[in-house]
Amino acid sequence: MNDRSLCHLISQTIQQNPHQRITFAEYMEMALYHPQLGYYAANHGQIGARGDFFTSPHLGQDFGELLAEQFVTLWRVLGQPKPFTLVEMGAGQGLLSHDILSYLQRYHSDCFSCLQYVIVERSAAFVVEQKHRLQLWHSSLQIDWRSLTEIDPNSITGCFFSNELIDAFPVHLVTIAHQKLQEVYVSDRDQAFIEILDQPSTSRLTDYFNLVGIDILTYPEGYRTEVNLAALDWLQAVSDRLKRGFILTIDYGYPAARYYNSRRSQGTLQCYHQHSHHNNPYLHVGTQDITAHVDFTALERQGEQCGLENLEFTQQGLFLMRLGLGDRLMSLSQTEAKTAHDIQTVIRRRDAIHQLINPMGLGGFGVLLQGKQVGSQWVTSG
Ligand SMILES: C[S@@+](CC[C@H](N)C(=O)[O-])C[C@H]1O[C@@H](n2cnc3c(N)ncnc32)[C@H](O)[C@@H]1O
Repeated sequence: MNDRSLCHLISQTIQQNPHQRITFAEYMEMALYHPQLGYYAANHGQIGARGDFFTSPHLGQDFGELLAEQFVTLWRVLGQPKPFTLVEMGAGQGLLSHDILSYLQRYHSDCFSCLQYVIVERSAAFVVEQKHRLQLWHSSLQIDWRSLTEIDPNSITGCFFSNELIDAFPVHLVTIAHQKLQEVYVSDRDQAFIEILDQPSTSRLTDYFNLVGIDILTYPEGYRTEVNLAALDWLQAVSDRLKRGFILTIDYGYPAARYYNSRRSQGTLQCYHQHSHHNNPYLHVGTQDITAHVDFTALERQGEQCGLENLEFTQQGLFLMRLGLGDRLMSLSQTEAKTAHDIQTVIRRRDAIHQLINPMGLGGFGVLLQGKQVGSQWVTSG
């Protein structure tokens, strides 16, 4: 039902367009974020063990606790400012916020006492869940929910961070046809969505490939890929609001040279529905997730243009090991488990940690740290 009525709304939008088509980015925007019918409009348990997909915070507290360790280091690098503001963008069910705050309160009360926590979340349903999960802190900490535009320019000293946010931004689809860059548009015929190729809707698509140093016109006929212009706009907006501090982005993706490998001829777009994945974005409209990998070179180059310094780009597995995941694994192996329940808990946690660092899975995610006004201090203490 949901599926059909969202399809109907998308069709109406297509019909209202003078060319009877919308860009794929506009289609994806409606499928994921239509305020009533989009995939993220309702919280129907889509993330988690029984949902469509899971993320690192669903594998236990280790991920959030190690991120918290990273934030303490960043706070010290900045000279222990008060307030030190953490802005979590796309916080989902609030699991990560919960793990970070619990750990800081318990083990780093000096940092916790300087903390201000802001959540930028697009889904109203997730905001409700986040507020419920974080109510524990209402008396001891200021937590605000704001949109990015509600945060004043040049106002944040601290760290903006996200886990699996950018892969959820609507992307443009492009292809090479007759040796030209063409954009994929969505139209409809006989109550089904169809794709149409035409000239790019914006010159920003060509500019994008110049930005990341990819000569897209040399790619073979039929080569198809995605361009995440929303990521560039997002980084500009975040950078404008950062006065001094860091932007930490964790997501799956690659540098441009690997992302736009000519052998990856059909791009990285993936859809998730009940833990299975495929690449047809026109199925299960509004009830399946649609994502595309992140081009980290684009974030680095755009960051430079916004006055950010690229401090580190690494993989999640290495990043977490540097923050102490290896020690955690070691102490887990020395844990004396007395009961069957203890043994099961240890096995489950060890399995979760291995998933966090598996280079073929979450461990291969990209971790990008960018900074503003922190350069030399970061080098000496990082
Ligand atoms: C794949 S989920 C990841 C959730 C969480 N970070 C995690 O790791 O479990 C993407 C999240 O980003 C949110 N989101 C998407 N676009 C956003 C935007 N422009 N601003 C804020 N949140 C956004 C979604 O509503 C959702 O909460």
